[in-house]
Amino acid sequence: MGNPLFATKSLESLTKEAADNEHGLKRTLGPLNLTTLGIGAIIGAGIFVLTGQAAAQYAGPAIVLSFIVSGLGCAFAGLCYAEFAAMIPIAGSAYTYAYATLGEFIAWIIGWDLILEYLFGASTVAVGWSGYVVSFFKDFGLNIPAYLASAPINYDPHVGWIMTGAVLNFPAMFIIAIITTLLVIGIRESADFNNIIVIVKVAVILLFVGFGIAYIHHSNWVPFIPPNQGHFGEFGWSGILRGAGVIFFAYIGFDAVSTTAQEAKNPQKDMPIGIMGSLGVSTILYIVVALVLTGLVSYKQLLVPDPIAVGIDAAGKGLFWLRPIVKIGAIAGLSSVVLVMLLGQPRVFYSMAKDGLLPPKFAAIHPKFRTPYITTIVTGTVAMVVSGLFPIGILGELVSIGTLLAFVIVSLGVLVMRYTKPDVHRPFRTPWVPLVPILGALLSAAQMVGLPIDTWYRLIIWMAIGFIIYFTYSRSHSKLRAAARTNS
Ligand code: ALA
Repeated sequence: MGNPLFATKSLESLTKEAADNEHGLKRTLGPLNLTTLGIGAIIGAGIFVLTGQAAAQYAGPAIVLSFIVSGLGCAFAGLCYAEFAAMIPIAGSAYTYAYATLGEFIAWIIGWDLILEYLFGASTVAVGWSGYVVSFFKDFGLNIPAYLASAPINYDPHVGWIMTGAVLNFPAMFIIAIITTLLVIGIRESADFNNIIVIVKVAVILLFVGFGIAYIHHSNWVPFIPPNQGHFGEFGWSGILRGAGVIFFAYIGFDAVSTTAQEAKNPQKDMPIGIMGSLGVSTILYIVVALVLTGLVSYKQLLVPDPIAVGIDAAGKGLFWLRPIVKIGAIAGLSSVVLVMLLGQPRVFYSMAKDGLLPPKFAAIHPKFRTPYITTIVTGTVAMVVSGLFPIGILGELVSIGTLLAFVIVSLGVLVMRYTKPDVHRPFRTPWVPLVPILGALLSAAQMVGLPIDTWYRLIIWMAIGFIIYFTYSRSHSKLRAAARTNS
């Protein structure tokens, strides 16, 4: 089996695992549910919070182009995810794909890395949720004091870690607790809840676009690409690139669809539809929202936590009625992002535990609800603590770097698999191989390089912790290794 660190799981054993739904997860999701799950995961803090900040600081109206650039990178990676998800429909997503292609050690790295995307992702969006809830209540004269709704710990690049004086971000912890409970009860129930929320948030976005168009002032779009201010990333073409790096966060989540592969009725056909469909719908919505928003109000006024509401205010009395509706839409929208992230994480843990890399308890399925309840509760508890303690900026950058790393590995995995196992049946084939996987990996790596050095340090520390666990526990408990020992 060569170097055991790079031992791969055979496709046959994975196919058998995917087919076993007697004792495992419940298969209830069709193509529509999978697409709405994807939209539920994607549309959130990115469009409702970050668009305005990126337009104001980096790209101006050309943030529309940033959305196209970042969307393109995600589309390449998405096509690679779609090939794998249809070929290896296992809950472990990128972790499992790596196990089949690049070996156990890389699989461990990516599994550990996905915690940054899903668990920390849920915490990040919960912090955004808290901000919108505080602002919504404030509109009705109810003030939630900042020390009860913000992070007690922050990081200043000049000073280091500081205590802010706040107690905990209680609203953020609250939403995670509610959603964790829901997820323990069932995937079907969770998907239904998600569908309702997706309808609400897409409707709110369409209302904003539909009614906003009439109030656009074309002068706000001139110049469409504000001239560069003399520094890389401050407007001009480099600003469009930096804007793309920032709003990349808005696209995170389409890959979460692949973690529900063992709960899909027909994953071979429906996984690609769910992944590419949700990515396509979100990209179109993002582009039109960015166009309308920057047409309603000068981009210079958008450096706020609730840019869409500022756009509406700029339209004057005519759109005032839309303000609370948009906030409700954002609150609902952010809840569903938290939901899908918290749904994805336990399924990755579940796969890792089944392979022996995590304790067997992590693979336990609830006898009545048939959900991976132990991992759901563990994930929810840790995500709650993280969301209570840290601010959105630090968390968001960690989530982005972790996700981009996963995209790089998945894109390379597709490439490796095409050469090592060219004849395997692929229900969906990534087009234009090797171009698409190479571009997927390169664009993702380029966006990683654009992130601050502190974020890189945190990624390295996180990975170092992962290595310690791998070499002290997982390696000796790996079922693949045990099987290899028995056979030799
Ligand atoms: N894409 C998700 C969001 O924007 C993570 O909230």
